[in-house]
Amino acid sequence: MRLAQISDLHVVARDRLCYGQVPTNQQVRQAVAHLNNLKPSPDAVIASGDLTDHGGDEEYSALRELLSPLKVPVFVIPGNHDSREALLKSFADQDYMPPTGSPFVNYVIDDYPIRLIGLDTSVPGHHHGELCAQRLRWLEGTLSGRPDAPTLIFMHHPPFRTGIRWMDSAGLHGGRELELVVSRHPQVVRVACGHVHRPIHVAWAGTIASTAPSTCHQVALEFGGDGFEFIMEPRAIQLHVWDPGYGLVSHLSYVPNSYEPMALLSGLKAAEREQIVEQSRRDYEALCKSEFDRRNW
Ligand SMILES: [Fe+2]
Ligand SMILES: [Fe+2]
Repeated sequence: MRLAQISDLHVVARDRLCYGQVPTNQQVRQAVAHLNNLKPSPDAVIASGDLTDHGGDEEYSALRELLSPLKVPVFVIPGNHDSREALLKSFADQDYMPPTGSPFVNYVIDDYPIRLIGLDTSVPGHHHGELCAQRLRWLEGTLSGRPDAPTLIFMHHPPFRTGIRWMDSAGLHGGRELELVVSRHPQVVRVACGHVHRPIHVAWAGTIASTAPSTCHQVALEFGGDGFEFIMEPRAIQLHVWDPGYGLVSHLSYVPNSYEPMALLSGLKAAEREQIVEQSRRDYEALCKSEFDRRNW
């Protein structure tokens, strides 16, 4: 089985820019095209939260439209930028989605060689995440139901400290309790998260916990900073490949045409930013052309 993971799409209303700077909708469109072009194709896609930037109905409408070209099923969970209520309403036509009005967006997919568990860590109105007693009980019961099925849990907030201080300050409450639950269930082959907009992995609770890069802007690798900094490092998706002989082998795949300046765009004036982006675009086109000529495509 090949399971693609996209994360932190931060879709905004049509014709808007995220933070007034990042064309997140266009970038999601490119990520979807990239997923459709993977050979061989993934069997399914998980989207690990921050699907939209503000959780508005218009954003979910744009999200559904952007995801609609996907050739394989996509399973979504909320992040801190989402609205649980709006998400449930927007995806109400999807069989896997809990009914509108459900307290959490928790569900299980038993259609693949890897069992998928979507776990809702969101807390309405807050950026930190939480796994309360109710959600942990649900997870314990769900994992106990099929102890022999290799299982991937996907959720938004990672259960470990990343060292990126300002992201950790919006981390997960209840991570230690989750660790105890997962430790009791060795069939969990991965806890796949988002939120941090960077690829990170760590041995945790007898398995591996990881975070995925964003399909849009990345978070600056700044351990001591207190403020919000994002950086236009290349965008990427993850591809988790299940091999019964080895386990889950995870790849990072950069989204083509995503070359952008390695600059902290958030710290620049608009004119400076446009100049850098334009120069970067010209450089990238020249690079593509020379590669095209060299390979005689
Ligand atoms: Fe995010
Ligand atoms: Fe987040």
